[in-house]
Amino acid sequence: MDGVGLAPMEGVSDFPLRLWMSVTSQPLFQVTPFLRVTSTYPKNIPVHWAPELLLKGLGDKLSYSLVPQLMCPEPGPFVETAKRLLDQASFVELNCGCPAPVVVGKGAGSGLLREPAAFHNFISTCLAELGDEKLAVKIRTGFESSERYEELIGALKGLPLKRLTIHGRTRAQKYQGYANWEQIQYAARELGIPVHGSGDITDCGQFHARLTEQHKLAGVIIGRGSLRNPWIFEELRTGIKTRIEAKAIVAAVECYALILEAFSANQEELYGLCLEGTFTQKIHADYEAWQQLRHQLKAILPRHQNSLISKKSLGKVKMLWNYFRSSLPLSLFNPKILRCTRYEDFLTAIKVHLEALDQVDPRVSLSWQQNYDWIYAGEKRPKPKSDCR
Ligand SMILES: Cc1cc2nc3c(=O)[nH]c(=O)nc-3n(C[C@H](O)[C@H](O)[C@H](O)COP(=O)(O)O)c2cc1C
Repeated sequence: MDGVGLAPMEGVSDFPLRLWMSVTSQPLFQVTPFLRVTSTYPKNIPVHWAPELLLKGLGDKLSYSLVPQLMCPEPGPFVETAKRLLDQASFVELNCGCPAPVVVGKGAGSGLLREPAAFHNFISTCLAELGDEKLAVKIRTGFESSERYEELIGALKGLPLKRLTIHGRTRAQKYQGYANWEQIQYAARELGIPVHGSGDITDCGQFHARLTEQHKLAGVIIGRGSLRNPWIFEELRTGIKTRIEAKAIVAAVECYALILEAFSANQEELYGLCLEGTFTQKIHADYEAWQQLRHQLKAILPRHQNSLISKKSLGKVKMLWNYFRSSLPLSLFNPKILRCTRYEDFLTAIKVHLEALDQVDPRVSLSWQQNYDWIYAGEKRPKPKSDCR
């Protein structure tokens, strides 16, 4: 088995989240969000998109391997950019899953899945240029529907791909409903290449159910489930449910904010910390280690007038918190926390709620609660209201 990795999430799983996730629970591999490629862009591959690969020595100091993902409507520019990356990466992934209308309108992302024959030609052309096992592909189960799914999988039969990752929804489904893992398993049975599954893995129970049913799968990637429980990768490895001291949760959230800020305000110093090995080891639930990281990060940050963390970084921390809060005890789901407009107020609000819990039990249990799945699928709140949050 290739193992469990962090799924690509555009606008979310940038370098700061990848660093933070690696010290939180160490996914074995991580996939970059797609880099959009056209015949004129990028002239130079932006370093900040994948410093793990593009900065000498940096990847060696991190615990995960990085898979670079590109999105492109034509084989030519894709191959050209992929070849440049193959100096640093052992293979490159092609995004055939993005559902955004602007992307699909240009024939990229899941737009490549419309016609199985054209899809086959695209992939064969890229493989002929890049070589066996230099290309991985990530797909959905279809465009409008999964009616032609078997044809799509047939289009890949016999091709020497490094791996195929399948998000078990069609483009039309976007993120609604649940992923179809039977279809993922079908591809794993049909194709003689490693197949990875993606969609709705949020805890140990689901993970093991998938693996027992899906015995032919080579790996899985976890996206939103890792935002809901950032400790999930360790939990899946050990089978032990995560219980963390409230103060370690606060320190971990602070470290994410500080990494984001360092990445935006002082990238060179952040890369320096990486090269020194600051992010090589897992911190997991170790409060002292989170504190130490916090001090190291604070030391490289410039002084802001009003707040340590800019509004832009705060927005990203809140995005993570919006997911994470649904795995925490009820009081932390409080929407007032997300309404804080200053970082310091946001942090204080979290502390106040966590301190109240601390008096009952200093360790907080993280648990996935299905009744909040609708939030992350972009669906409306189900009726009747099943809770009072
Ligand atoms: C905010 C967001 C951004 C995403 N960006 C990408 C992307 O850049 N490339 C890609 O292949 N998939 C992308 N995906 C899809 C995920 O990689 C994954 O396949 C999907 O979310 C289902 O897995 P999950 O239920 O574990 O989140 C994105 C998903 C989300 C929620």
